[in-house]
Amino acid sequence: MAADLVIAPSILSSDFSRLGEEIAAVDRAGADWIHLDVMDGHFVPNITFGPPIVAAVRGASKKFFDAHLMIEPADPYLEAFAKAGCDGITVHAEATRHLDRSLQAIRGLGCKAGVAINPATPETAIQYVLDRVDLVLVMTVNPGFGGQSFIRSTLEKIRRVRALIGDRPIRLQVDGGVAPDTIGEIVAAGADTFVAGSAVYKGGTEAAYRANMDALRASAKRG
Ligand code: DX5
Ligand code: ZN
Repeated sequence: MAADLVIAPSILSSDFSRLGEEIAAVDRAGADWIHLDVMDGHFVPNITFGPPIVAAVRGASKKFFDAHLMIEPADPYLEAFAKAGCDGITVHAEATRHLDRSLQAIRGLGCKAGVAINPATPETAIQYVLDRVDLVLVMTVNPGFGGQSFIRSTLEKIRRVRALIGDRPIRLQVDGGVAPDTIGEIVAAGADTFVAGSAVYKGGTEAAYRANMDALRASAKRG
């Protein structure tokens, strides 16, 4: 599995005053995907950015734009995020009343569909939508902020989601507290796609971003 790992830097930890450059820098430094944390101050206690910002930075990288919508409701904004250039759109199971419909809408817009679950949400919340998704995101912190500590009880849930996925072509993503000291156990539990904000963007230079991602990959392989 190690060869197939995806590292998706979260731009939440980047310097927003130079957002386009910061995306281009992690792209050159070896990022597989670019993770976009969209927050509404309602579903989560923080506010970030919306479709116009995504559209503005779309030209900074050709890599997969992985939008993580922490917004409630999500349905009214799906089309705008697709038009802004997102390749994948992930909605929270807790934030959309008709999850099956939301996931169909995302695929209908030509995007990969993802479903996210918070640390306190059981894996059964996604059990009946697995044929509608390309990605399951197990949150390993409570969403809203970068730089939080990894919640260890999620490891068991990652193992259970891996079992639920079976042989479906679905990526199992984790987000929150992913760092060289945690990624080994997370890989062992069955995740293959890793969001990392502070662990990638610390250091503030392209050389640091490359070294940070190399350290994540090396620890993942050891795990
Ligand atoms: C949290 C966001 C994460 C966050 C991760 O709500 O969804 O993507 O940026 O940050 P780190 O990697 O610093 O925990
Ligand atoms: Zn995220």
